[in-house]
Amino acid sequence: MPKHIIIDTDPGIDDALAILLAAVSPEIALDGVTTIHGNASTEQTTWNALAVLELAKASHVPVFKGCDLPLVKESLLGPETHGNSGLGYAQLPEPATQPKAQHGSDYLIEQIMSRPGEVTLVAIGPLTNVALAIRQEPHIVENVKEVFIMGGAIQHPGNTTAQAEYNTYVDPHAAHIVFHSGMPMILTPLDVTYQCIFTQADLDRLLKIDSPVTKFIADATRFYMEFHDEYQSIDGCVINDPMTLALTFMPEICDYQNLVVDVDISTGVGLGNTFGDFYNYEKKKPNMKVAMGVRPRMFMELFLERMEKLAREIS
Ligand code: RIB
Ligand code: CA
Repeated sequence: MPKHIIIDTDPGIDDALAILLAAVSPEIALDGVTTIHGNASTEQTTWNALAVLELAKASHVPVFKGCDLPLVKESLLGPETHGNSGLGYAQLPEPATQPKAQHGSDYLIEQIMSRPGEVTLVAIGPLTNVALAIRQEPHIVENVKEVFIMGGAIQHPGNTTAQAEYNTYVDPHAAHIVFHSGMPMILTPLDVTYQCIFTQADLDRLLKIDSPVTKFIADATRFYMEFHDEYQSIDGCVINDPMTLALTFMPEICDYQNLVVDVDISTGVGLGNTFGDFYNYEKKKPNMKVAMGVRPRMFMELFLERMEKLAREIS
């Protein structure tokens, strides 16, 4: 039985790879995509989501535009990381489909409340839509099956400020609402994603297959690799989002700790910082499962095999 998921996303190069992985994986039934501001504007991330679904021959998956701005902070987009288009150097055709009229947060509420215990949410962008949905309908907390979140840096440096990861930094107030909601959360922080570097050798393996899919991956990740080299001296690129998606059907890629995790919403240098109370000084109940260990090659092999499968299907 495939797992029914909704992806909340800000495509974004690694988001696009997560959408491709979802589209090709039989373990997943991708019910819908909700888009959010982040790597690019919500107008752009919505266009990108439609275009990437079309590339994957998955245009039947409905797309719902979400919030344009964080709950409190100013917008912070990521053109230096993902390019002005949000997809690096990749050029996709104008999508033939349009987003649905329903707001992304309303779609999340409608789907989770109409199918109690059945919907898995995979949140791989800033958490504005999810936070808004919780405030509009608090009962989604006990009706969602599970929530996989890409975000945070627990014992790892930030990738946006010295302390903060991008998704939690862009909308720390939304992250705070979600982290304290009581939802059944599994967090994939930079602590594990930074151990999974997509390299030129991985790309060369995919390029052995001539396909619009491999051309897209090459053009998108070339920009992403240039960013990682220039800003973080990394030889390759960190594909955070497909790794988060993979845990929905291959949890054994990671090792997990039940932790009390919080996010700093003070206005100092720690804004957006996420931290785990490893000694549980405050004697609280853990609020999430956190991936703190990973088998990088297990994930990368899965990702490459699935991209090769998709590329062979789409020539
Ligand atoms: O910090 C990495 C996360 O921020 C990823 O989800 C990336 O796509 C950006 O949204
Ligand atoms: Ca993302």
